[in-house]
Amino acid sequence: MNNNAIGVFDSGVGGLTCVSELQKILPNEDIIYLGDTARIPYGTRSRETVFEYARQDVAFFREHNVKMIIVACGTVSAVMMTYPIFDDDELASGVLYPAVWAACNATKNKRIGVIATSASIKSGGYGKAIHEIIPDAKLVGKACPMFVPLVENGYTDRNNEVAQIIARDYLQVMIDEDVDTLIMGCTHYPLLKDIIGDILGDKVTLISPGAEAAKYALRTLSERNMLSNSEKNGRLELYCTDSVELFTENVKAFLGSDINGTIYRTVLK
Ligand code: DGL
Repeated sequence: MNNNAIGVFDSGVGGLTCVSELQKILPNEDIIYLGDTARIPYGTRSRETVFEYARQDVAFFREHNVKMIIVACGTVSAVMMTYPIFDDDELASGVLYPAVWAACNATKNKRIGVIATSASIKSGGYGKAIHEIIPDAKLVGKACPMFVPLVENGYTDRNNEVAQIIARDYLQVMIDEDVDTLIMGCTHYPLLKDIIGDILGDKVTLISPGAEAAKYALRTLSERNMLSNSEKNGRLELYCTDSVELFTENVKAFLGSDINGTIYRTVLK
């Protein structure tokens, strides 16, 4: 048993896709969330810069003494395959492997699509992980740099015409290549899942990396006997690195107006 909080971070609100799943499947766990809103987006930056930001994100959680860190950012998860950011004795997970395991389980025709930030696609990390499991899988990768600003600005409604036009353009290649499984490889993208689902149809399985990482955390903590024994609802503490006001609006749009948690501003070092 371990009653310390679980730490979850992303560059912005995307990692809340992981938090909402954690709250569903592990309702008694305390969660500390960090959105590095002053430096979003990560996905258009060099690997060296993303690594440096991620190092500071991890240092924040070391100070808070969390029992597990979930990197709920596809970009950092991809970059850390070549630039490790954790010590061997730290319990941590990215979103890339949990998403890839789920996709490899779901695909029938071995044609898997990955949409993600430019940095994630350039890293080649998704392809490497998929081919470790299904060596002859066909991977169709597509960077979708306009999706993060759409999400951060609330353009997520299924009837939003701007988001629909952009999504159709990005996703046409998935239709042409007949993928049957699509990894929404940036944790912001599941917020666009209604639009993505409408374009691809229900024959394509959509994988949310944040949700898969939450399920992985449940398995890992329970195997190690590290789940909380609290019988109360877990506490949610949220941190951002830019305006609390702006972040609060975004979080509310995502988790609902009754956040049931406190939002603070922090400075990373
Ligand atoms: N949510 C993040 C990801 O999964 C990133 C968005 C960004 O900062 O570019 O990649």
